[in-house]
Amino acid sequence: MKRYRPRPEERQRQRLRSTPAGEHRGVLMDAVLRVLDPKPGMTVVDCTVGWAGHSAELLARVGPTGCLVGFDMDADNIPKARERLTAVGHPFYLHHGNFAGVQQALAEHGIESVDALIADLGMSSMQVDNPQRGFSYSRDGTLDMRMDRTRGRTAAQLLAMISAKELAEQLSTLADEPNADVIARSIVQAREQNPITTTSELAKIIQAATNQRDWHLHPTPGKWILHPAARTFQALRILVNRELANLEHLLRVLPAVLKPGGRAAIISFHSGEDRLVKSAFRTGRETGIYGELSDDPVRAQFREQASNPRSRSAKLRWATRASEFK
Ligand SMILES: C[S@@+](CC[C@H](N)C(=O)[O-])C[C@H]1O[C@@H](n2cnc3c(N)ncnc32)[C@H](O)[C@@H]1O
Repeated sequence: MKRYRPRPEERQRQRLRSTPAGEHRGVLMDAVLRVLDPKPGMTVVDCTVGWAGHSAELLARVGPTGCLVGFDMDADNIPKARERLTAVGHPFYLHHGNFAGVQQALAEHGIESVDALIADLGMSSMQVDNPQRGFSYSRDGTLDMRMDRTRGRTAAQLLAMISAKELAEQLSTLADEPNADVIARSIVQAREQNPITTTSELAKIIQAATNQRDWHLHPTPGKWILHPAARTFQALRILVNRELANLEHLLRVLPAVLKPGGRAAIISFHSGEDRLVKSAFRTGRETGIYGELSDDPVRAQFREQASNPRSRSAKLRWATRASEFK
């Protein structure tokens, strides 16, 4: 009899269903705590609070004399994060907003600089799981993809306007899509017949364009061939949410946000993000802004990878602000 193997997205959903929010744990949590070394009285920033997996642990460690300042662009995450952080019982501020505004937000609270900062980039499982958010190619829903639904263009609006040439360039740059040209041409042809407004319409166009099957097994046991729409969905999400521009801005202001000796940990999930982080940290070390930093990214251990598929592509890079840098 054939062994039942849930598809990757299904496995993630099963894991989330069996994980009460109270046990929700941030990706690479042990490494984050090791690198940031939060201590009583410290001020820490979580740029991407989500459901407070990292924030709750950090807040517990900085204690009643410390403080956590958290951000999330997605208003849907704020109530759950607030509930979890309130249960920890130490001081915190939570902002519905873009981490690109970190300096202004800290200034509003009279905080000049912080001891530690984390950014766990990209989308959360909660966003992927909700078909109405439009992040998932395997669940039918509105083609939205905005993390902040109070502003900006949806993926459907973007696809209605972008040229085939620009779309192909973005698919190639942001997601290393090998079939970028053919997918971009097919999308533009399809939208001339009817606007593309749902995730399943887009997934079908990509599948037809690439002539590829749905999920299927890799010749290596236990591995899956990526869904043909996976890369396009990734590129669109990055574009819709201006993810690389936001990260570039954060990396620019980071030295001013960290106290001398302060530490930053950034977890990225695709090569475009990782390149930006690596380059900013290395340049910063050359110019004396950063002292110590990770030469190689920290990756999830086998055990975490087995229980949390998202952790498989996670890369954590860290840097310490040089003590004498002004
Ligand atoms: C991977 S999840 C974070 C999960 C969180 N570390 C946890 O353990 O619960 C990333 C979160 O960051 C948010 N986000 C992404 N880009 C952002 C930005 N530029 N500013 C603020 N929040 C952002 C997303 O809405 C999402 O909730």
